[in-house]
Amino acid sequence: MNPTSQLKIPVAVLISGTGSNLQALIDFQAQSSYQIQLVISNRPNVAGLNKAKQAKIPIETIDHTLFADRTQFDQEMIRIIDQHNIKIIVLAGFMRILTTEFTQHYLGSMLNIHPSLLPKYPGLNTHQKALEAKDKEHGLSIHFVTAELDGGPVIQQAKLAISPSDTVESLKDAIQVLEHATYPGIVDLLAQGRLSLQQNIAYLDQEILSSPLLFEPKAICTN
Ligand code: GRF
Repeated sequence: MNPTSQLKIPVAVLISGTGSNLQALIDFQAQSSYQIQLVISNRPNVAGLNKAKQAKIPIETIDHTLFADRTQFDQEMIRIIDQHNIKIIVLAGFMRILTTEFTQHYLGSMLNIHPSLLPKYPGLNTHQKALEAKDKEHGLSIHFVTAELDGGPVIQQAKLAISPSDTVESLKDAIQVLEHATYPGIVDLLAQGRLSLQQNIAYLDQEILSSPLLFEPKAICTN
């Protein structure tokens, strides 16, 4: 497929901070079937908003502290997202729990990236948890977003071995490298219509994804 800009699927990326995954998505979009047409942050003045501005992508700050409750905040997000005729929502470090109304509205069209090998360690502090459990491996999961926090069907995972010298910081850095290598490709698969969610099961090319795709980094030849 040779994606021309007219055929590209409009995507919104939701962030709360640095936006390194947003940058990876921006960098990949020229060779993809998606076009990021909106970036939303629930926090004002975060670095990710500058990355969007530099790429000339429309931004919206929807400060959650100005809303009475989650429902009103999510309703405002729906209003803005739907105004932009968005077809795919990509959560990229968006640090808000979403209401069922929101997850239902975009069911099958919304992805998240989570820094653990789900179903292990949903929620926060995943690197700390993996170290405390003395896990031998750790990684990331890209999944469809459903009402269950970090609980939707997993599409892809990438793994790394934990070494005795690893720290929360070293794991975070290593996993982010893998995040940037994986997330844009999965967003592209969804934009191409090759991924779907039916009755809480993920499908790739109309076949049940019975286990997550495993990302294999290309072997690095050192000699
Ligand atoms: C990522 O590491 C992702 O796993 C988690 O939030 C982090 C966001 O980082 N969901 P960034 O803002 O994309 O740099």
